[in-house]
Amino acid sequence: MEPADQHDAPRQARAIRSFVRRAGRITRAQQRALDELLPRWGLPFTPRALDLDAVFGRHAPRVLEIGFGDGATLLALARARPEVDFLGIEVHPPGIGHCLLGIAAGGLTNLRLIAHDAVEVLQWQVPPDSLDELLLYFPDPWPKKRHHKRRLVQPAFVALLATRLRPGGLLRIATDWEPYAEWMLAVLGAEPRLANLAPGGGYLDHTDRATTRFESRGRRLGHRVFDLAYRRA
Ligand SMILES: C[S@@+](CC[C@H](N)C(=O)[O-])C[C@H]1O[C@@H](n2cnc3c(N)ncnc32)[C@H](O)[C@@H]1O
Repeated sequence: MEPADQHDAPRQARAIRSFVRRAGRITRAQQRALDELLPRWGLPFTPRALDLDAVFGRHAPRVLEIGFGDGATLLALARARPEVDFLGIEVHPPGIGHCLLGIAAGGLTNLRLIAHDAVEVLQWQVPPDSLDELLLYFPDPWPKKRHHKRRLVQPAFVALLATRLRPGGLLRIATDWEPYAEWMLAVLGAEPRLANLAPGGGYLDHTDRATTRFESRGRRLGHRVFDLAYRRA
């Protein structure tokens, strides 16, 4: 079996992942959501390209969030923009459960979740040129040098993201860890398919996105937040 576009999708050494599976505390409601709601609003991981028109039953603009945490951003966006279809990828079961409860409570029909490693989902399931926007808010910063290889933002992954955006599509990223922000500027700046939208090629002056849970924690610790945006050429 080959990835959706075997010529363009760079392969990553899959021994190194950007997350560690933690047991973590999960509430009864979240567990029940995983058991009962994931089959309805989740898409299983399979090493085949998705037919997104068939998944959503329509042709619409598509936005994908990587590492959605508890899903607050995704739920707010899906509620506010019913004309857009949203996909969320996350591996942390309590967060997925929390988001599923929000989907069911809101009766949302324009949001689907994939509970799997985003690198493999992007490589196999998300077709090339299919996304209008890609959101990567507060990816784990992996601050120790020996863990830098676990950072999601790596040249091969960024190249993969660029191929999944449609021409003109947007990549939005944020972090509260300054060394990671600098790393992002360097890695993203080296991807020829992406153009930085900030004046001067640095960070955005302002953003209209909602504050995320991880971001609030960072702000409480006094961290500065860096927002970046790129357009696929
Ligand atoms: C620091 S948290 C930020 C969560 C959320 N975006 C926020 O701002 O509150 C990073 C999230 O990315 C998820 N994650 C990390 N690597 C991932 C991967 N390869 N695939 C899917 N999710 C991943 C983690 O499980 C975690 O929930």
